[in-house]
Amino acid sequence: EKKIIIAIDGHSSTGKSTVAKQLAKKLHYIYVDTGAMYRAIALYAMRKGYIDESHFDQEKLEKDLPEIVINFEINPDTGLAEALLNNENIEKEIRTLKVSKHVSKIAAVSAVRRKLVEQQNNMGIDKGIVMDGRDIGTVVFPNAELKLFMTATAKDRAERRYIELKERGENVTYEDVLMNVVNRDHIDSTRKDSPLRKASDAIKIDNSNLTLQQQFDQILKLAQTAI
Ligand code: C5P
Repeated sequence: EKKIIIAIDGHSSTGKSTVAKQLAKKLHYIYVDTGAMYRAIALYAMRKGYIDESHFDQEKLEKDLPEIVINFEINPDTGLAEALLNNENIEKEIRTLKVSKHVSKIAAVSAVRRKLVEQQNNMGIDKGIVMDGRDIGTVVFPNAELKLFMTATAKDRAERRYIELKERGENVTYEDVLMNVVNRDHIDSTRKDSPLRKASDAIKIDNSNLTLQQQFDQILKLAQTAI
């Protein structure tokens, strides 16, 4: 059977990873969450004190890049991939609003992007992969057989993310989450290197008014047609 590359891009908190995971499971493909890789580097920089609210020492981070190793391991209980930073499982820590607040500044650094894009390219060598992020259809896999661009209103996205963070026990306000979503989209769309864009051949999916099931059915059909 022919295997393809499925690239899923879009704004923050549009449910890209939810649909990507469902799709990978159904097709027996590998799922790669590239946002987790940028978040892992952001966490590294935060721990080292290279970045906080008032400063970012890009030079120090760039010097450390060769020593930063990001991998995934499957959690045997859930069957899902979890992110490792230099062999430490950091899956929980990278999902906090604190990391979300710094990650877009880290992701705007070309040296960071070059490192991660190279690794992502290698992950797609055998195809049979669903990858989500911001530049997958435009930069990482410009020849992907299927490209999706997911979007929804900022209000819908912030509501979903707020509920998710609350359920995980984070002490956040809806306004904080909304501000973060809008702010990240702004930085991601206006950066010089690989800005968030819909690839011209990507199919746009606005899921503001779709249930998860409706969205999945629609996307699975597109995938089956592309395979
Ligand atoms: O997908 P997620 O929201 O976890 O991504 C976190 C951040 O990582 C994004 O807001 C963006 O700044 C960055 N990112 C990126 N390119 C990707 C994936 C994520 O710049 N391919």
